[in-house]
Amino acid sequence: MSVSLVILAAGQGSRMQSDLPKVLHPLGAVPLVLHALRAGRVLEPARIVVVVGHGGEAVAQVIRAEDDTIEIVTQDQQLGTAHAVDQTRAALDGVAGDVVVLYGDTPFIRPETLEAMLAARMQHDIVVLGFDAADPGRYGRLVVQGDALDRIVEFKDATEAERAITLCNSGVICADRAALFELIAAVGNENASGEYYLTDIVALGRARGLSAGVVRCDEAETLGINTRAELAQAETRFQTRMRAEALDNGVTLSAPETVFFAQDTYIGRDSVIDQFVVFGPGVTVESGAQIRAFSHLEGCHVSRGAVVGPYARLRPGAELGEDVRVGNFVEIKNAVLDDGAKVNHLSYVGDAHVGARANLGAGTVTCNYDGVFKHHTEIGEGAFIGSSTMLVAPVTVGAYALTGSGSVITSDVPDGALALGRAQQQNKPGLGKRLMERLRAAKAAKVKG
Ligand code: UD1
Ligand code: MG
Repeated sequence: MSVSLVILAAGQGSRMQSDLPKVLHPLGAVPLVLHALRAGRVLEPARIVVVVGHGGEAVAQVIRAEDDTIEIVTQDQQLGTAHAVDQTRAALDGVAGDVVVLYGDTPFIRPETLEAMLAARMQHDIVVLGFDAADPGRYGRLVVQGDALDRIVEFKDATEAERAITLCNSGVICADRAALFELIAAVGNENASGEYYLTDIVALGRARGLSAGVVRCDEAETLGINTRAELAQAETRFQTRMRAEALDNGVTLSAPETVFFAQDTYIGRDSVIDQFVVFGPGVTVESGAQIRAFSHLEGCHVSRGAVVGPYARLRPGAELGEDVRVGNFVEIKNAVLDDGAKVNHLSYVGDAHVGARANLGAGTVTCNYDGVFKHHTEIGEGAFIGSSTMLVAPVTVGAYALTGSGSVITSDVPDGALALGRAQQQNKPGLGKRLMERLRAAKAAKVKG
């Protein structure tokens, strides 16, 4: 059966005390809204519609960058969750199958839970995701008889007896599209908040002879983020989960609590991640690679057998081939290092291609930026770049070529050549010693006087 995904992300999130829309605050280096989106994606939705409002243009940009086929609709005034879903009516007009509604500020819903909800649609017309709350607080309460859901009552509208219910509404709802929009059309706003509650579709549906049921999940999955403190707690929880997953997948973490992952970090089995390593978005580390202590990686790919760090920085576009070595205080940006290449000490390699088994000596710098444009550096297979070589791009160093230490290379070096681009050394016999004696004498005279 086909599924459409609706993500509600119009709320202001005023308790974040932020100019940034709440759903754009990062969790695991990725905006909150993308967590819900990526979880919903496993249902292979035929259509995805995101409802934006506060900071709508900024949210829309993030969504489009993720996938420009996603539809974005604007809810100008936040009149309630039913009103929010109603904004997708035209976008989903005539689409067959179910609609799953998720919240953009609820990042931990597991794909398996969403699959369980779809499965429960075999038994019920409306399926709601519920959880047993340790502290039910202001959540909507699920009024059930057996496994059948009678209605959802919002905290503000609940009686004392209803408030004593601990089974709460997560907000995730699934129903047939046509039925959903028919019920939403009937939702009113005569309640304690004066809002159009999506939760009202349960009682409305029951009155029309539809059935409703509950799928239960762990409370941790339904955790929503409303404050910076909750965001920080969520980050801790997220990192704990990612570390556990990495260990389960056969990755060695020398000190798990000091390694920080992004939502999309992929690490292959038998990789070793040492202490204090930070992964930004878009990192893939293949099997058997080693990331040593205090390294920072984002937007990069590390192939099997490569060793990175300690103290290395891989920036977006860094592509490391098999058995590559990137050592301490080395920064790599937008550069491909072919198999077995080595950049072991104190170097910057940006906008470059380094051939297989080339060796870049300590302090090698690709001078890629002229203040306006970026330029490319090409280093051939097996080349040997002497320490402290400045490669002024655009420039090519041929295969198996050498550059002398301290060279400033401004023109291309043919294959197999030795390039020396530095001032000729002059030795003045005895002058070093004499100079030093003169300086010491001058200092002694000054102290006396
Ligand atoms: C909602 C549920 C409640 C549930 C709780 C779980 C309703 C009426 N209540 O309450 O039963 O226990 O979530 O967290 O649905 N949004 C819009 N436009 C709007 C209103 C909300 O996009 O007009 C978005 C918000 O940005 C948020 C989500 O919908 O992501 C939920 O809205 P919120 O106001 O937080 O609902 P709650 O009062 O928490
Ligand atoms: Mg809420």
